[in-house]
Amino acid sequence: MIDKKILEMEEIGVLLEKYPFVEDFLKNNLIDVSGHRNSKLKTFFETLSEDHLEERAIDPDELTEGMVSYINQMVEFLGLEDNSIDKITIFPGKNKLGEIENFEAFDISKGEIICIVGPTGSGKSRLLADIEWTAQGDTPTKRTVHVNGRPADKANRFSSGNRLVAQLSQNMNFVMDLTVFEFLQLHAQSRMVENEEEVIEKIIAKSNELAGEKFSPDTPITSLSGGQSRALMIADTAILSTSPIILIDEIENAGIDRKKALELLVGEEKIVLMATHDPILALMGDKRIVIKNGGISKIMNVTQEEKSILSRLEEMDKVMQGMRQKLRYGETISLDKLD
Ligand SMILES: Nc1ncnc2c1ncn2[C@@H]1O[C@H](COP(=O)(O)OP(=O)(O)OP(=O)(O)O)[C@@H](O)[C@H]1O
Ligand SMILES: [Mg+2]
Repeated sequence: MIDKKILEMEEIGVLLEKYPFVEDFLKNNLIDVSGHRNSKLKTFFETLSEDHLEERAIDPDELTEGMVSYINQMVEFLGLEDNSIDKITIFPGKNKLGEIENFEAFDISKGEIICIVGPTGSGKSRLLADIEWTAQGDTPTKRTVHVNGRPADKANRFSSGNRLVAQLSQNMNFVMDLTVFEFLQLHAQSRMVENEEEVIEKIIAKSNELAGEKFSPDTPITSLSGGQSRALMIADTAILSTSPIILIDEIENAGIDRKKALELLVGEEKIVLMATHDPILALMGDKRIVIKNGGISKIMNVTQEEKSILSRLEEMDKVMQGMRQKLRYGETISLDKLD
């Protein structure tokens, strides 16, 4: 569903590409947008003179509203699923003590990375679940989550095909008796990709870049290690999923290359929320939500100073990674080998 505000800010070219039938609508209303494909709809109307508008009996406001209903009706009629998201909004619920959370409405726009921090058991995974479920006051926290300014459509909430949310959860257990190749093939087929084998190969290659010991296409998924299966799910989500919201629960515990994983997952068109205990990941975000006692207690911007510390943290992390690597491969660790 599109609304007036979104429509006004959309570039005409993008609009026509997304909704080709808008061309007819404009023609029927005597509006010629040729040469204005790069303008936003609102800006375009502003370029038209009063006379021009009067002659054709055009009222930009009314016309935009008409266009909104037209697009929404056509989308419904044609069964096109509109999977684009500009923002989600979280409205306060209650913490574990029953106290109302201390913030108003929190908007998260596409392109933003939001980290969720807080002690173990405080409710980070719960917040991710509220978003996945697009909560309507019907979860233990009583939070409400809106998509593009309104409650999510039922279809989006429950359909498993064209999902709004891709979730990388904290605990993952495969129960299916399939090889990695068969598993990915099922996935690729359900997404109707054309170059299936190529995509599958790419996912396996990317997973192997993230994880330690490599696995092959004919490895049964039940015999993948915890880290390997997370790496597989991350690469699968990054390459196959069209979901505009990505929820990540503690990527760091999987022993995979977490920075590479995040880079793979994040995109300009996506909203990313990530629960983490890791300062490097937390500072890579734009904002962070602090959870205490089951409630959102603070929403903080990552400051410039924090960002500048990030590179130092990364250096320290390299030292730790180096040691981890040595441990893994049976070497001894000594002080003079620290750098
Ligand atoms: N506001 C709330 N009201 C009631 N129960 C809550 C609330 N928030 C969280 N919980 C419950 O508290 C428990 C712990 O929360 P959760 O698993 O989200 O913690 P976590 O922060 O993810 O911990 P970890 O760091 O160990 O993963 C869960 O059972 C969850 O449903
Ligand atoms: Mg958790």
